[in-house]
Amino acid sequence: MEKIVIKTPGIISEILVGESWESVTSMLPERGVVIITDDNVLRLYGDKFPKVPVIAVSHGESSKKLGVIEYLAEQLLLQGVDRSGFILAVGGGVVCDIAGFLASIYMRGIRCGYISTSLLSQVDASTGGKNGVNLGDTKNMLGVIRQPEFVICDTSMLITLSDQEYLSGLAELIKTAVIGDYELFDLIEQNFTKIMAREKDLLTALIARSVKFKAYVVTEDELETGLRRILNFGHTYGHAIEMHMFFKHGFAVASGMEIATEFSFEKGYISSVEKTRIINLLNKFGLLNYHNIPDDQIDRLILHDKKKTGAGINFIFTEGIGKAMDKKVTVGEVTDFYKRFRNKKL
Ligand SMILES: NC(=O)c1ccc[n+]([C@@H]2O[C@H](COP(=O)([O-])OP(=O)(O)OC[C@H]3O[C@@H](n4cnc5c(N)ncnc54)[C@H](O)[C@@H]3O)[C@@H](O)[C@H]2O)c1
Repeated sequence: MEKIVIKTPGIISEILVGESWESVTSMLPERGVVIITDDNVLRLYGDKFPKVPVIAVSHGESSKKLGVIEYLAEQLLLQGVDRSGFILAVGGGVVCDIAGFLASIYMRGIRCGYISTSLLSQVDASTGGKNGVNLGDTKNMLGVIRQPEFVICDTSMLITLSDQEYLSGLAELIKTAVIGDYELFDLIEQNFTKIMAREKDLLTALIARSVKFKAYVVTEDELETGLRRILNFGHTYGHAIEMHMFFKHGFAVASGMEIATEFSFEKGYISSVEKTRIINLLNKFGLLNYHNIPDDQIDRLILHDKKKTGAGINFIFTEGIGKAMDKKVTVGEVTDFYKRFRNKKL
């Protein structure tokens, strides 16, 4: 088991990679705990949950909306949860995002911790304290940054994930490697078969590496005023693709990374050899699917992106495997590159 600690003003958050999720009981207060989960996770693991009230939402992105937050808050009230209450999220990125958001605003904030059950949430979503919901078709528009007290990443839970969900998580693992960890990239390239077999010890090592990198970035820049922006590599195009094509998050980010890599190559920031390595790795895991956002929609979706400030976008380029760079570009340049990229693939 690896323990990674995030220290930010006001809270110390512990991420336990390789810990058994059933040990959570020892981390909970004696009273006022409510579990928030989704129907899939409840069906698979509910019989071993700690004996506290459980509220389940429908699985999937459609639960990331304000209406669900309101429903959950009403349920907490009905359960008599007060300011000393504790929310335990048990689920993937969706459950952690909504439970973390609810914990941040319910009675102006109550305690929370996560058992992170999907690869995507173990690698990425549950580290860093970002939470929130979507607003219409704009991703993560409403939310705050607030660290949970702990996150348990038990890799044995990944066995029950569908292949698509598992691959979606791998995309975020590859993202971490591309932006900040050359050795991790090598390890992923060299261990294709073991990764596809979901070998527990290897996954624990890879996830711990990814969490360590994200923890470092978040500790340096919790509120995303600088360094943290690099974690958005692939996300400007990725979010547009996710909302328009209804791809799973990781697949959308993988396509976003492919375009951002090509964009970096056009700008002369990355060599042809490294560009090919990145795109080949994404292809090897079957992460790149056809997408075709029409011109008027791409403009609108990119304009909605939160990385936009004024007329420009803080776009994340790769400067080679393991290195990322945040550069301001115009919205027009970003949408124009998408159109050219898309048309080349037609
Ligand atoms: N907060 C952040 O920093 C951050 C970072 C990246 C992504 N995200 C968000 O995370 C969400 C995507 O996360 P996700 O891919 O985990 O989605 P998800 O929570 O919808 O989980 C994916 C599916 O897997 C199921 N599932 C979860 N754990 C399982 C298990 N152990 N066995 C079987 N099935 C299981 C779920 O029921 C769901 O159907 C997106 O909304 C994205 O915006 C947030």
